[in-house]
Amino acid sequence: METRGVCTLTLLLLACACPMRCSASWMWLGVTSAGAPEPPACAAPPLSARQRELCRRKPFLLPSVRDGARLAASECHNQFRHERWNCSTSKKPPGFGPELGSGTKETAFIYAVMAAGLVHAVTRSCSQGNMTECGCDAQLRGGGSSAEGWHWGGCSDHIQYGTVFSRRFIDNTVKNTSASREGYTLVTMNQHNSEAGRQAIDRTMSTDCRCHGVSGSCAVKTCWKSMAPFERVGAYLKERYEHSIQVPGRSRKKPRRKEPRRPVDRYQLIYLNKSPNYCLEDRRGGIAGTRGRRCNRTSTGPDGCNLLCCGRGYNTHVVRNIQRCECKFVWCCYVRCRRCESMNDMHTCK
Ligand SMILES: *[C@@H]1O[C@H](CO)[C@@H](O)[C@H](O)[C@H]1NC(C)=O
Ligand SMILES: *[C@@H]1O[C@H](CO)[C@@H](O)[C@H](O)[C@H]1NC(C)=O
Ligand SMILES: *[C@@H]1O[C@H](CO)[C@@H](O)[C@H](O)[C@H]1NC(C)=O
Repeated sequence: METRGVCTLTLLLLACACPMRCSASWMWLGVTSAGAPEPPACAAPPLSARQRELCRRKPFLLPSVRDGARLAASECHNQFRHERWNCSTSKKPPGFGPELGSGTKETAFIYAVMAAGLVHAVTRSCSQGNMTECGCDAQLRGGGSSAEGWHWGGCSDHIQYGTVFSRRFIDNTVKNTSASREGYTLVTMNQHNSEAGRQAIDRTMSTDCRCHGVSGSCAVKTCWKSMAPFERVGAYLKERYEHSIQVPGRSRKKPRRKEPRRPVDRYQLIYLNKSPNYCLEDRRGGIAGTRGRRCNRTSTGPDGCNLLCCGRGYNTHVVRNIQRCECKFVWCCYVRCRRCESMNDMHTCK
């Protein structure tokens, strides 16, 4: 049943938010829905009392939770398709197998994109009028500058509701997410990155306008605010990932010396632990390795054979491509094409 499937995802999202078992496995249900294990009910033990409550009280939000996870999963794949770590995750739900190492830049990205996906999906649903608890941004309505010939109109995306929900859903109850003097823990790191993801939605919003008036004179303009397509949010977060900052962990020994520390703002992604190089398969670490990955012989970027294959070299195969070509429009009304064959080299990492 619909709600049961959705609750499975809810559960996985929450399991991901739990500090010690940080895993990217929630995406597993973001991309596959068939063949999932028996879905646990909303009341299953891993949920805290507050989360169970949220699950029961607001079942109408659960489709958006699933949409948000899908959005986040596919955008993660998209942004990392050329990297050694291609956003592949353990094919098993948390607790059943290898998981991605915690506290790395990669998990920082995952937390951020996941929180952002949730805001995006919930807000979209609000704007489409699907929910009674939220809608378009009513505060803007009627405002604007009539002197300059424009006013707010249409439906401005109101991200407040989705942002608050994303916080309540993903973050645990720990309130203080600011860095304490003693450094970060996995929990505060993850919360910081989730918040950076939510901020990314805010920061990539834009104002769109439409002209009215006699034949495009643009005497009157109507403007509204809208969220960026999620692809743009993903690109923004990828950029943040590339400039992410390593922060000190909390030391169990004496308080650390007062070191000058680079200040971290809420838009930055942070991580505690250095990443592995993702070159070799490590089942226990949840790393797929790059063997068999397709690489580009002429590229100097991360998808180039040298970098992607970690210097191990590559195999070359000849693949036959069949495409439609020389298409012509035939009056009336169809398109006739020829089948063209080409032989291309394909390179895969050793
Ligand atoms: C809103 O509801 C309509 C009709 O039920 C559905 O087709 C659409 O996908 C929903 N939109 C969102 C963002 O959930
Ligand atoms: C990621 O790479 C692994 C091999 O390292 C491959 O099996 C998997 O299909 C890739 N995933 C995507 C989404 O490209
Ligand atoms: C390989 O990389 C080159 C240079 O970046 C690019 O022009 C080309 O389109 C790439 N080929 C494929 C198959 O992606």
